[in-house]
Amino acid sequence: MTQQPLRIGLAGLGNVGASVFRLLTEHRDMLRDRTGRDIRVVAVSARNKSKDRGLDFSTVSWHDNPVDVAADPSVDLVVELMGGSEGAAFDTVKKALELNKPVVTANKALLANRGAEVLALLKKSEGTVSFEAAVAGGIPVIKGLREGLAGNKIRAVYGILNGTCNFILSEMYSTGRPFADVLKEAQDKGYAEADPTFDIDGVDAAHKLSLLSGLAFGCVPDVEHIDTKGIRKVTSLDIDFANELNYRIKLLGIARQTDKGIEQSVEPCLVPKDSPIATVEGALNAVYVDGDFVGKVLLMGFGAGGNPTASAVVADIVDVARNRALPLMGIAAEKVTPLKPANILERIGSYYFRLMVLDQPGVIADISAILRDNKVSLESVLQRGRDPDQPVPVILTTHETSEESIQRVAAEIGKLPSVVEPPYLMRIEEFKS
Ligand code: HSE
Repeated sequence: MTQQPLRIGLAGLGNVGASVFRLLTEHRDMLRDRTGRDIRVVAVSARNKSKDRGLDFSTVSWHDNPVDVAADPSVDLVVELMGGSEGAAFDTVKKALELNKPVVTANKALLANRGAEVLALLKKSEGTVSFEAAVAGGIPVIKGLREGLAGNKIRAVYGILNGTCNFILSEMYSTGRPFADVLKEAQDKGYAEADPTFDIDGVDAAHKLSLLSGLAFGCVPDVEHIDTKGIRKVTSLDIDFANELNYRIKLLGIARQTDKGIEQSVEPCLVPKDSPIATVEGALNAVYVDGDFVGKVLLMGFGAGGNPTASAVVADIVDVARNRALPLMGIAAEKVTPLKPANILERIGSYYFRLMVLDQPGVIADISAILRDNKVSLESVLQRGRDPDQPVPVILTTHETSEESIQRVAAEIGKLPSVVEPPYLMRIEEFKS
């Protein structure tokens, strides 16, 4: 029996929106066979109506205001691809839910910052919100967590969540090119956010991590309790020294359930060169989920770009076409609790320090004394170059210690007269647990 067509309203025709439109057009017959329904876009809205996207919009109606796409009575499903947590995106989702319509969105900022409001709207609506495309582009990590791993208590979820940063760090490693040059290329390739500081300062990865945490632990996404650092301070020197120590540098998002609550962080970390995550290059993303029965599962694929993200958007559209409704955070909206954050200062780990020091006798002795006084055990020391007139880099790695001790050590070392700039600190993540 042929079912009613599924009529889509598409709010946002940027890189991802245009790819979604093209995918739905090119795979229309296949999607009809898979879902039993004809899926077609009937209404759109975009800031720039006259832009040539190389697509045929002759059969769709245009709305100047995206909220009107949601309100359009000929629209069954609203696809929100405008981005941003304020203004039009939220208003469009709100209108759709008020009208009991399902929503598919790629908007991580919206759900990360206003997840509680969206959950409140869902409690009063027969509509749904799906967001596969909001995390790790084309990788079906939301489905993986919410469906494939639904039988597990999740111990941790972590990985490479930002394609732009991974592209930049990979290129800096393999070509030695400078940061700004590689960032420009990432923007040209369509990986970067509208505001690329969101990528390089870790904000985008934090948005995504908050959604993974929400799903993994059944809580409201809580971006405020993510210790977030970006990649601006990572230099070629760090990349070289890390390499010498058999590590690669990757921007990681990590959420772990501990006895004291949930630890969440986004920061550049050293990972062993022979670990699977170290081999994830370019705009690829990789997400590990650690479940109590399944163990560790690794999902990998393109985390940015129009086509991979469109693939994820259409997966959610297919669910709606099949009348599959799944709760936003994997449990009923009424049962979603606020996240209980762990104190990040109590986190235990090993660390990498980059110091720029005046090459004078006794410098290492002073640094060692600070480490000793704070009971931090040194694993290795590397010094490169010898120039009495110029600061030289000294790299330290430590054994396991608490974040609190390492912060204190960094502050004290930074005050030594022979240390000419604040120490730069990165975690070493071996993924033993
Ligand atoms: N700007 C994001 C990234 C892509 O670089 O991963 C969309 O999430």
